[in-house]
Amino acid sequence: MSTSQSGGYIRLALFSALLSGSALVFPATTVAQDFGPVAAPEVNPARAELGKRLFFDKRLSGDAALSCSSCHQPDKAFTDGLALSEAYPGSKGFRNTPTLMNTALRANWFHDSRIGTNLNDVTRENLTEDYIMNMDMRLMQERIKQDPVYVEMFEKAGLGEPSNGGVRKAIPEYLKTLISRGAPFDKGEMSPAAQRGFDLFRGKAGCAACHSGPLFTDDKVHNIGVPENPDLWSDPMRHMTWVAFASFMGVENYMNMRRDVGAQILRHPADGRDIGSFRTPTLRELKYTAPYMHNGVFDTLFEVVSFYNQGGGDDPNKDPRLRPLGLTHAEQKDIVVFLESLSGDLLNTPEFVPAAPVPTNYDAIENWRETTN
Ligand code: HEC
Ligand code: HEC
Repeated sequence: MSTSQSGGYIRLALFSALLSGSALVFPATTVAQDFGPVAAPEVNPARAELGKRLFFDKRLSGDAALSCSSCHQPDKAFTDGLALSEAYPGSKGFRNTPTLMNTALRANWFHDSRIGTNLNDVTRENLTEDYIMNMDMRLMQERIKQDPVYVEMFEKAGLGEPSNGGVRKAIPEYLKTLISRGAPFDKGEMSPAAQRGFDLFRGKAGCAACHSGPLFTDDKVHNIGVPENPDLWSDPMRHMTWVAFASFMGVENYMNMRRDVGAQILRHPADGRDIGSFRTPTLRELKYTAPYMHNGVFDTLFEVVSFYNQGGGDDPNKDPRLRPLGLTHAEQKDIVVFLESLSGDLLNTPEFVPAAPVPTNYDAIENWRETTN
């Protein structure tokens, strides 16, 4: 995959060299354009506005304790600052909450890439999974139908009366508004250290083999040997959530497993070669999204870079491209400064966050039995 990635890259560079009639050089600006900025998709404003209210509405979880924003918090680029996520009351999560910045532009979703269709399906998964929001869709529909604000907003969004299908259209529309902007990298405002880090990143450190394109990800899964987070096995609540998930996903021998198998759940190859593979995350907005990796085992970007410098972790399935890099301390710091230059504005303004908390209590519709909506 490394060869096809860099092959594509060289072809691209050749092509632009041919176009410009210049010699084959790698001017920093051309390369920066290959990686960014992120192009915003078109959005239906009325639907996105509805999706925004739904995203912050706790009534969308079974016992009205959690909204999407409980875990995906705007002040942390839609993550939660925890190694392993919270979960529906009575359970605890077993993975790190990923950023939702640019999620609308991904090719697949979740750390194991288990959903490859669309955000409509991803939204359903988050709503109905018993350890996430544990929502019964029929109940959700009844709740939102009784809120006059929703009745009006659904109508305005062209979605008719409040419905499950409408929720699963409106939330993804809001997610489409969460697009990176204002990163020094995109504004051509990188410091000399960031520029040096970028050169290492796409040069001798080999990072761009997997972290490429405007989102700095190939949307594929790889094994880089990230160590397990022991909390997953020592905390009975987390372990229980994992066991339920693994059993549902058909993981062999899941009662004795002491590791998160990652993308193995997709194809279940008998030789277990997909065990420990996880999807390449985006490298945008990392300043706000610590701790890192699918299980939050690294607290800082410097820890991540020195992990790569050692050649990644210890795993029989590890991608052969991970090897000791021999970077100096200063070079590792330059890569960190470069990674930080990929963080832009926090989307925590009224454009993205409701002005006031969405009330969970509201005036019931009078004579609702007779009222059609
Ligand atoms: C209890 C915490 C929690 C809540 C509540 C929650 N999420 Fe998540 N979300 C997560 C975690 C953890 C993952 C990653 C799970 C995994 O990889 O197995 C995730 C993954 C996602 C992803 C995939 C992102 C990617 O890049 O792969 C999207 C999109 C998403 N959530 C949207 C939502 C929406 C929309 C809601 C509300 C309907 C919501 N989430 C509610 C914790 C939460
Ligand atoms: C073989 C493909 C590959 C290469 C090469 C690679 N990465 Fe990664 N990177 C990944 C995968 C896969 C993950 C997620 C692993 C996980 O969650 O367990 C990851 C995770 C990360 C993270 C954590 C992001 C987050 O939000 O948790 C950072 C930062 C990162 N890589 C930076 C780099 C840098 C810097 C380099 C070069 C020194 C590099 N990567 C080389 C595949 C790769």
